This record gives sequence, C-alpha cells and structure tokens, in this order.
Amino acid sequence: MTFDFSGTGRFWNGGDVYRTVFFNSLSIMLPEGERFFIKVARQLLPSLKDDLLIKETRGFIAQEAAHSAQHMLYNNELRKMGYPVDRLEKFIRWQINFALKHLPLKWLAAMAASYEHYTALIGDGVLSNAKWLDGADNGFADLWRWHSVEEVEHKAVTFDLYQSTGGGYLLRSFVMLVVSLNFIINLLIIQFSFLKFDKKLLDLTMWKQSLKFIFADSGMLSKLLIKYLAYYRPGFNPWDDDNKTLIDDWVSKYEE
Ligand SMILES: [Fe+2]
Ligand SMILES: [Fe+2]
Repeated sequence: MTFDFSGTGRFWNGGDVYRTVFFNSLSIMLPEGERFFIKVARQLLPSLKDDLLIKETRGFIAQEAAHSAQHMLYNNELRKMGYPVDRLEKFIRWQINFALKHLPLKWLAAMAASYEHYTALIGDGVLSNAKWLDGADNGFADLWRWHSVEEVEHKAVTFDLYQSTGGGYLLRSFVMLVVSLNFIINLLIIQFSFLKFDKKLLDLTMWKQSLKFIFADSGMLSKLLIKYLAYYRPGFNPWDDDNKTLIDDWVSKYEE
C-alpha cells in the first residue's frame, strides 16, 4: 500500500487548521502505539488455544505493522514541514516503554484493548462521517480511510486477546479509565505543540473550527461518547456495534 503525499499542503484537511492538527496528532502516537499492540499480541500468541483467534491475531499483527510503517512515512512529511516530530514521538515512546517494563502482560493486554476501542471509534467516525475529511483529497486522507477500514475490521482482536488472559471486567474498566486519561492528555499536549509551532494558539478561526468539529455538525462527542461508554458495560463485546456494512461499503469503493 502506497500513498502519494506529494504536493500536500500544510493544512491538508480541507484547509481546516483544527481538523488537520487533530489527525496529525493521532498520527504522532501511531507508529510506536501500533508497535506496542504488536508486541503484546506476539507475547500472547503462544498461549492461544482457539484456531480462529490465532489466525485473527496473525492478521492483526500484519495489519498493524503496515499501519505503523505508513504512519512513519506520514510523520516524516510532518517532520519536513518543521514540526517537532522527534520530540513528540520520543515522548510517546517513553510512556510505552515504561508500561512494557513495569506492567504484567494481562494489564498490557487490557491497555491494548482499550486503545483499540479508541482506534475503532475513530475509524468508525472517519468512515461514517464525510465531514471529518471534507475537502481533503490527498494521500493523508486516503491513508486515514484505509487505516480506518482495517481498524474497524480487526476491532475485536485485542479485546479477545485480553479475554484469553483471563482478565475480568474490573481490570478492563479500570485500565480503560487510565488509558482514557492518558490518551486525552497526550492528544492535548501534541495538539498544543502543533498549534504553538504554527502560531495558531490565539487564532479565533482555529478555535471556532475546533468547537465545530467537536460539538457541532460532525457531532463527534455525542456520537462517540455513547459508543465509548459501551465499553464499561459488563457484557460488552466490540461487535455489539455491528458496523461490518460500513467496511463492506468502503472495500467495494476501493475495488472499483
Ligand atoms: Fe492500526
Ligand atoms: Fe488496530
């Protein structure tokens, strides 16, 4: 899979500063984050008994490796634009290495399942809400659509891996709370760095764009919040929200 980033402007997401910064900030976390998912999945693979889960885990590892490689190229484009990519990636790497060093595998599996709930929600948002990438007909947008399809496709794998460790409801919910806090703080710090670099922190248009993206017509918060909270239900399964048709629609569009 290759994406053409040539000629892509600085505010590639339809000229919208906030929407661009939102997606760029996620990309900063992804190369290292997806390597983390792969490490956890690889560690769990030898203990798996279910043939289907073994097959799905192998597929998951291959997909995340491809995503990680593509987001490294994406981040390289951001580096060329002058953003402090190395410093931000290092900040994420430090946190992940800390977790890998100090937490038991069951906790790491719960972390992966929590983060994968976020990637599935964001993937669902990208595919079902055209406004998220409105006016962005370029390599970055194509990359996000491709990545989103695969995130929705494999959204239950790390959840099933966590279940295979014998992990229960309380640990799953507790780790999700901590991960959510960590994710939101990281996202805000990275967004702040991008906006500061572009001297957009005091730009009223950018603030309007951010409020519009989060609260208004794309309805990001209200739609995603309900799906996010479902994770805290004791009997939750990622496929309770059956959005397979969303992927099928996109796959048939790719094949055309
Ligand atoms: Fe991914
Ligand atoms: Fe994923």
